[in-house]
Amino acid sequence: MDVTIFGSGYVGLVTGVCLAEVGNNVLCIDIDPKKIDLLNSGGVPIYEPGLDEMIQSNREAGRLRFSTDAKAGVEHGLFQFIAVGTPPDEDGSADLQYVLAVARTIAEHMDEYRILVDKSTVPVGTADKVSDTVREVLASRGHELEFDVVSNPEFLKEGAAIDDFMRPDRIVVGTDNPRTAELLRALYAPFNRSHDRLMLMDVRSAELTKYAANAMLATKISFMNELSNIADAVGADIEKVRVGIGSDPRIGYQFIYPGCGYGGSCFPKDVRALEHTARALGYEAALLQAVEAVNFRQKEVLFSKIRDYFGGDLAGKTIAIWGLSFKPNTDDMREASSRVLMEALWDAGARVQAYDPVATEETQRLYGERADLTLAADALAALDGADALAVVTEWSQFRSPNFDAIRARLRTPVIFDGRNILDGPLARAAGLTYVSIGRATLM
Ligand code: UGA
Repeated sequence: MDVTIFGSGYVGLVTGVCLAEVGNNVLCIDIDPKKIDLLNSGGVPIYEPGLDEMIQSNREAGRLRFSTDAKAGVEHGLFQFIAVGTPPDEDGSADLQYVLAVARTIAEHMDEYRILVDKSTVPVGTADKVSDTVREVLASRGHELEFDVVSNPEFLKEGAAIDDFMRPDRIVVGTDNPRTAELLRALYAPFNRSHDRLMLMDVRSAELTKYAANAMLATKISFMNELSNIADAVGADIEKVRVGIGSDPRIGYQFIYPGCGYGGSCFPKDVRALEHTARALGYEAALLQAVEAVNFRQKEVLFSKIRDYFGGDLAGKTIAIWGLSFKPNTDDMREASSRVLMEALWDAGARVQAYDPVATEETQRLYGERADLTLAADALAALDGADALAVVTEWSQFRSPNFDAIRARLRTPVIFDGRNILDGPLARAAGLTYVSIGRATLM
């Protein structure tokens, strides 16, 4: 089938390459000529495991092309995926200008039936706005063409996006038109083999499903982080509590890991946007507000622990940080907890020596050259001359470090584990003080 994807960002690229992988003829359109040039010369603008190789093999097979030519894009695909950004406005609501601009572009150039597929995370009611936009532009052209707008939210996890797309746990399709539903079912058939994962629903329910999923996951994390602070206060071990409650299948073990807060491009933005949607309709979403507030506070917990350990004075201290990306297997630093920690340390007059397996360039891009930031070439080098180590991202390679080597390099033998991934007793046996989240008893 012929598919056009508008927006060659994270979601657009993964969607495009996976649809090409199963044999579709995919044309990806982006307004940024630099990005398209890069993709056409074999480069990939984002880090995602497996993406480079798949883009290359599908380009070579002629199933995947990149262009800035929007008109050619509209002519190409029966399916017109909209996968452009919906950045938060100042008030937390999702900014739809890019989504609606693509809708206008499609309407300006279409000459036959097209299916517009909303892949971007968009507030409930956006499909109606896209429909209105297309209808207006068609009317101004004097055309009365048939089209459909479908909500097909993505549930990709950064770092595991290819696998999530190729082996989805659900394919949500929101449309009121049975014929369109069948066309989407055919497009997704290669990803829907062992049992039917396609969930057909009305457009608004599909739009809300996306927000509901992310808000639920964010709620689980904030709940555990709240509990971790209570565990600290009462002298309990949150990791024991985690296992204790996770054993109840109604609660489950997944996504209840306490830490120094959630980040990324999705949870913070989506919780705020859903809260905003509710407020705009006169409903105060108290739980969502609390989820956000708890997370905001949790991102400061590591800094508070470090400051308290050093008696409130961090001026002139050097803190080593392991992990800068908001989670492992990505270089994405949007809303990363590391940023809150680094900025608080700098404000307190401390220096940062940081190491991340892939986010070094991104850190440089965000903060530039500064005297109080050194980006180390490897994890141990980040410790040289540092007063303490803070672990901020749960990269696998940090899980089993050589504690003797850490002890030998640190000026003060103390580790602050913001993700509870290290073996506390082993660290202590090596002569280190081990401070973690919600485990006051392990200090
Ligand atoms: C999230 C969702 O997990 C995906 O299902 C969704 O499709 C995606 O948003 C999206 O809307 O596009 P992602 O932002 O890639 O995916 O990251 P997650 O793996 O969910 O991690 C988010 C944050 O939560 C990270 O900072 C992670 O460290 C933190 N986290 C996760 C915890 O603190 N505790 C946990 O138990 C799990």
